[in-house]
Amino acid sequence: MSAQPVHIDAPKGKLGVLIPGMGAVATTFMAGVEAIRRHLALPIGSLTQMGTVRLGRRTDKRTPLIKDFVPLAQLDDLVFAGWDLFKDNAYEAALKAGVLERALLDSVKDFLKRLRPMPAVFEQKFVKNLHGENVKKGKNKMDLAERLMDDIQRFKKHNRLSRLIMIWCGSTEIFLKPRPVHHSLAAFEKGLRDNSPDIAPSMIYAYAALKLGVPFANGAPNLTVDIPALLELALQNRVPVCGKDYKTGQTLMKTILAPGLKARLLGLHGWFSTNILGNRDGEVLDDPESFRTKEESKLSVLEYILQPELYPSLYKGFHHKVRINYYPPRGDNKEGWDNLDIFGWLGYPMQIKIDFLCRDSILAAPLVLDLVLFLDLAQRCPEMARKGIQEWLSFYFKSPMCAPHLYPEHDLFIQLMKLKNTLRYLRGEELITHLGLEYYD
Ligand SMILES: NC(=O)c1ccc[n+]([C@@H]2O[C@H](COP(=O)([O-])OP(=O)(O)OC[C@H]3O[C@@H](n4cnc5c(N)ncnc54)[C@H](O)[C@@H]3O)[C@@H](O)[C@H]2O)c1
Repeated sequence: MSAQPVHIDAPKGKLGVLIPGMGAVATTFMAGVEAIRRHLALPIGSLTQMGTVRLGRRTDKRTPLIKDFVPLAQLDDLVFAGWDLFKDNAYEAALKAGVLERALLDSVKDFLKRLRPMPAVFEQKFVKNLHGENVKKGKNKMDLAERLMDDIQRFKKHNRLSRLIMIWCGSTEIFLKPRPVHHSLAAFEKGLRDNSPDIAPSMIYAYAALKLGVPFANGAPNLTVDIPALLELALQNRVPVCGKDYKTGQTLMKTILAPGLKARLLGLHGWFSTNILGNRDGEVLDDPESFRTKEESKLSVLEYILQPELYPSLYKGFHHKVRINYYPPRGDNKEGWDNLDIFGWLGYPMQIKIDFLCRDSILAAPLVLDLVLFLDLAQRCPEMARKGIQEWLSFYFKSPMCAPHLYPEHDLFIQLMKLKNTLRYLRGEELITHLGLEYYD
């Protein structure tokens, strides 16, 4: 032990998981957790369930599972609820999403059928391609926020939950830039009462959560909680927040490959990425204004990893294009192609082609699980909760939130080191620097 462990409350009682948006990702996550609880499948892809953390020297051979090292909630203690503008219960929604096979869904049908979405806070102009009828009405946006708070408190009381977290699995909203109404909590609350057109539904959910001291994770690229007003509320109420946009599929590949190219000082002329996908997410992203939000999130990754300002002869002015094409026959089984024009010794050109036949929600579901468990851990740890933004969870996001004066860290391997060092720090274990000179004394 190098230091005192940081105080973390034990995870006593049940943890409520509140999910705005019960579509492909949310239902794949909830059905998966239940299948795992019934020992029908394994939590593959989840760091909290299958990952380990090395402690001390390499010769110490201390490598516990992360779930045995930090006090996380148990899967059996998770209780779910959500909102959606479609009335389908989670079984029906999962069948429509077409991610999991019917046989698996049928084995947890009783559980999924009980999960009926509460009426959503929704406004057409923010997600143009969706038209649902399970929508709340209120006299203004503050009124809608209060109805969400009622839903949350009812769910907590009814299920005798000791803690809650909220994780956004709803659609990508249109591209928004911070406006004056987002600049302070006072302006935001006035905007809620005055029905400001600049307050998106996802912000109303985040406001309701933070007001009640419920941590919030943003799985979409939406601006949502990444505005001064809601960060002020998070700090005021000492609530952890994190986002944005689950790092899956093509961007995951980018943040695996780009650090490797940079490590070997291989240059990049251009990176062209295109996708076909046919799920509801693809339909939403078919609207140029929602696509713009996604595009911004996907494009920023390479600039930050490759640092053209430090390596102008390798990366200055490289071309980066991202395309998403809605193609219904593929459903959730997306195909992503990448073409990289790279160059090596003496400037000689080479190419790399990637054809990733991935399953979007299969990649996203374990991230949702980890974020739920880690955000709950952060909430039980006053030292972490009072910081608001949880940058150590950057590992999970395409556009990681960080303090306003920092640039985000996108390199998957640095993000993982940061996450594990945070866990070591919390438990009073030595941080691992990989220096390793002591082995040669
Ligand atoms: N691998 C991935 O699948 C992945 C990766 C990164 C980010 N995301 C993001 O996660 C989100 C969910 O993806 P998905 O594939 O499950 O999409 P989906 O379309 O299947 O599900 C989203 C659900 O949200 C609902 N919704 C929209 N606005 C809402 C609101 N205001 N309140 C309540 N419900 C609302 C929709 O009706 C829909 O059922 C999307 O924003 C997507 O961009 C997904």
